[in-house]
Amino acid sequence: MGKIIGGFMQGGKEELERNLNALKRSLKEKEFSAQSIALRSAKEKELYIATLIRMRKLEAMAVKAREESIAANKAKSDFLSNMSHELRTPLNAVIGFSEVLYDQKFGSLNETQRDYLNDILESGKHLLSLINDILDLAKIESGKMELALSNFSLRELLEHSFILIKEKALKHNIEFSLDIAEEVGYIRADERKVRQIVFNLLSNAVKFTPDGGKIGIHAKINGFEAEITVWDTGIGISKEDQHKLFGEFVQLEERLTRRYNGTGLGLSLAKKFVELHRGRIWVESESKGKGSSFKFTLPVRGEE
Ligand SMILES: Nc1ncnc2c1ncn2[C@@H]1O[C@H](COP(=O)(O)OP(=O)(O)OP(=O)(O)O)[C@@H](O)[C@H]1O
Ligand SMILES: [Mg+2]
Repeated sequence: MGKIIGGFMQGGKEELERNLNALKRSLKEKEFSAQSIALRSAKEKELYIATLIRMRKLEAMAVKAREESIAANKAKSDFLSNMSHELRTPLNAVIGFSEVLYDQKFGSLNETQRDYLNDILESGKHLLSLINDILDLAKIESGKMELALSNFSLRELLEHSFILIKEKALKHNIEFSLDIAEEVGYIRADERKVRQIVFNLLSNAVKFTPDGGKIGIHAKINGFEAEITVWDTGIGISKEDQHKLFGEFVQLEERLTRRYNGTGLGLSLAKKFVELHRGRIWVESESKGKGSSFKFTLPVRGEE
């Protein structure tokens, strides 16, 4: 028992739970033996009461630890959401004013000035999307992210995503194919989030496919589920790395030698959005260099 208490003092929340369970088990055994021998000796009575007291203390500590962890989580979410707000306001001014200047509404600019302004604009937009991603993650973690369900055409959404990414793909001479089965029609889901899932997967497909490659979307219905695949003929992912990808801030390339930009949030957000819909997301890739297929499912009727 001393060991249990000692362990508890050093351990974290998980260890506390484990110790508490061990204590409960040991108490059960004691209760059993106490009943069977009808608390024969005074010493046994004493032991029984001491164990009870210890258990109550541990229970109170467990409740306190749980409350503290909930409060810490809330503080983290509040901090992130306040910071995001504070960062977004000036950032919107940076983006808005550089857009106005870039459009030369208040006087002409030379080429270098326009180039620099474009850099400011692009960096501002990048930072804004990063802040939005972090805010979304904080919201999901604190359980505040809710789905705004509506009925919409999945086919139209996929066709529209195709148009959005087409220009970028063309710039890199990447061929794009869209293959949507006839039965794919209306679904009930959060349209903005589904759009973002598809956009994140398509951005990755373009980013991780060398010039001259191919990417595509394939969609079909399996029973009550829509299954959407975003595939590419790009750099591929080794079997050992495939399970890591959906974690936050995970990028497979070494930071120093990285050729691709990004933060490592796209897939973790996509996974969270898919799971909020009670769908699944996974990756299939034969090996490095053999391209990848990211697949996800969404219930056609959504959560009622
Ligand atoms: N289509 C793909 N082909 C090969 N590797 C991929 C593909 N998609 C994702 N990955 C790997 O998974 C990692 C995580 O992807 P994720 O979208 O989360 O982050 P990112 O694209 O690096 O950054 P962000 O999406 O935040 O801009 C990528 O850095 C890359 O190593
Ligand atoms: Mg990405």
